[in-house]
Amino acid sequence: MANPAAADAAIPYGTLPPASPPATRKPLSLPRLADMHARGDKIVMLTAYDATFAAVADAAGVECLLVGDSLGMVCQGLNSTVGVSLDTMRHHTESVERGLRRVQGTAWLIADLPFGSYHASREQALHSAAVLMQAGAHMVKLEGGGWTTDTVRFLVERGIPVCAHLGLTPQTVHALGGYRVQGRSGEAAALLKQQAHALQDAGAAMLVLEMVPATLAAELTAELKHCATIGIGAGRGTAGQVLVMHDMLGVGLGKLPKFVRNFMADAPGIAEAMQAYVCAVKDGSFPDDSLHAW
Ligand code: KIV
Repeated sequence: MANPAAADAAIPYGTLPPASPPATRKPLSLPRLADMHARGDKIVMLTAYDATFAAVADAAGVECLLVGDSLGMVCQGLNSTVGVSLDTMRHHTESVERGLRRVQGTAWLIADLPFGSYHASREQALHSAAVLMQAGAHMVKLEGGGWTTDTVRFLVERGIPVCAHLGLTPQTVHALGGYRVQGRSGEAAALLKQQAHALQDAGAAMLVLEMVPATLAAELTAELKHCATIGIGAGRGTAGQVLVMHDMLGVGLGKLPKFVRNFMADAPGIAEAMQAYVCAVKDGSFPDDSLHAW
């Protein structure tokens, strides 16, 4: 029979930097994240797809782990996130949750509702969200504004925390015509703002803003008092930042997006690179003005 103590020893805790011992850290929760938002304490989010990297990121101080459907591209080798299934999201969410549990991790765990899993009806969205929550997610993320507002309200009313996602929404890359900056024109910016306010009013507690102009992201951040904006390629003015883990470690199958910093460049190892990311988001040095999407 496998020795559980030996299995625990397989988690590379001994090699991790001396973060505060997990037992003394308090788990992140919606009220704690809201307090951080209100205080202006930047929220650090990173994608995670498996148990070991989730444990390393948690120990490095990453507060929110996103099981992003970007796993379709970085783990499965797909060209876009469109081909990711709900079952694949469940599988990776369970893996990340187990990694966090093994090390008594404290991160807030968000899982992406994949393409097609919430589009047909609010009931379909509820079923898909329940699958991910039962896999260990604390919150689900879905893309788009307008038609998603009712779905967000429906999920929130049923006790499911929701993170929205506006700007470049990769699940609609074919409709958008590519991975390009959104909200540039006055009209597009006004629509994005209107959608963001509606999502906040529907109860979304977080909002990822991907590849939108920094001024627009900063304005929205100041306006949305009950919904923390998390930027990716959206400048430094958001309430928090998120990156795809492979990108910030400088590994990938394609070109690194312009707004990414390779934190491995000056770090002796992955744990230290993640710590450097945490520190840089917290002290506002990431992103700097040269790192944006437009
Ligand atoms: O799927 C993902 O990793 C994401 C982030 C890029 C925000 O949605």
